[in-house]
Amino acid sequence: MSLKFDFSNVMEANIGSTHGLSMENIEALSGKGLSALKEFRERAEKEELGFYNLPNQDALCDEIESYAETVRKRFDYFVHIGIGGSALGPIALQTSLRNSHYNSGQKPKIYFPDNIDPDWLHELADQIDVSKTLFHVVSKSGATAETAATMLYFMDFLTSKLEDDFYKNLVFTTDPAAGLLNQIAREYPIKCFRIPPGVGGRFSVLTPVGLVPAAIAGIDIKKLLSGAADMAAVCDTENMLENPAFMFAAIHYLYMQKGKNISVMMPYSNKLKDMADWYKQLWAESLGKRFDLNKEKIECGQTPANALGATDQHSQIQLYVEGPNDKLITFLEVEQFKNDVELKNHFTYIPEFDYLQGKTLGQLLNAEKAATELALTNNQRPNLTIKVEEVSEENIGAYFFLMEAATAFAGALLNIDAFNQPGVEEGKVATYALMDRKGYKQKKKEIEAMFAKKQFFVIG
Ligand code: PA5
Repeated sequence: MSLKFDFSNVMEANIGSTHGLSMENIEALSGKGLSALKEFRERAEKEELGFYNLPNQDALCDEIESYAETVRKRFDYFVHIGIGGSALGPIALQTSLRNSHYNSGQKPKIYFPDNIDPDWLHELADQIDVSKTLFHVVSKSGATAETAATMLYFMDFLTSKLEDDFYKNLVFTTDPAAGLLNQIAREYPIKCFRIPPGVGGRFSVLTPVGLVPAAIAGIDIKKLLSGAADMAAVCDTENMLENPAFMFAAIHYLYMQKGKNISVMMPYSNKLKDMADWYKQLWAESLGKRFDLNKEKIECGQTPANALGATDQHSQIQLYVEGPNDKLITFLEVEQFKNDVELKNHFTYIPEFDYLQGKTLGQLLNAEKAATELALTNNQRPNLTIKVEEVSEENIGAYFFLMEAATAFAGALLNIDAFNQPGVEEGKVATYALMDRKGYKQKKKEIEAMFAKKQFFVIG
């Protein structure tokens, strides 16, 4: 694992005292950080803070790898059905570590239908032969409407092709005991993987939620977990100023207090693009909370955004450099690209191209990152860099763990529960009511009463 966290460009020495931080500002939070760390350890011991224990799962990796081997032999397609925390991590894992054109040449082709747009699902159904498709249904609660509906959508195709044998093309990843998927699995001998208790959806990428599809794609899941384990050891450091998870959290926390309520994750790497989407959910759902642990109304959080370098230099950067100074930007940088080559100026009669002669694309990409960093810093815009030597299983595992631990520290600094999502649950309940799910009649009445009172202002 080789991951560095560079926070030079938030320090007042580099961006001035109006928008910069001092070491004293950060040190003042280190007592809270250390107490939080001790509490994490205790809760992890009791399996209440499940993500903390995920790097150490050798036996599970063996089981998943041998399962993946049989899947690769038996199936031509693998469809992962899940949403939110049950999809974003697995997608980021795939896109960072497998070939971008994997589906053109590899078997099984892997798909992540994480939405219920009927036209989109229809196009996927058209692409696959369901009798040669394994459907991985992932839901911690086993009840999420979008996941249930997508499963039912494909069930029609499955039962019409396979009749009573449909269950042979299903695998579930869910809670160890609770939920509707377990109810189905009690009726049919469906293979089930488990999400350990105490691991919430957005912290579940290093469980079978992400590991099963990763192993099927040929990603080395043991290396992934070993990178996470190395990072877990670093994030266990009691010297808080040397603890990157605490530092990431403390810096973000201090900027929230200064009114910088936007956290941008900007990878300079297409392979890491979806890591920013995963981060957005983690940061938003964990820290966007109405009440603190004392039940005081605080309405805290930081809006996460993503951008891609260098593409978004031609889209977002103008705003970041000159617009409102309300953001903290985190770059993800890759030192060594695996397939970097030197460019040649084939048009020697155009000397304006000479500066590219002998340079690599990776050099240009990282020079652009350095230039953006410089422009932001010169304009007192705080920015951080997480740098990996290369995009590898170990470094991806380390990044996942680092961000999860940072989120836990940020929750502790904000004095909130970073592991629940009452706002999401509220939406889920309203959906069940609107769709007439049994037991939600009263809720439906409340919603109808709200609609009856609503004044509409609509054009067209
Ligand atoms: O992070 C979370 O808890 C949520 O985003 C869930 O992952 C999402 O709502 C899906 O829930 P479930 O896995 O229970 O179907």
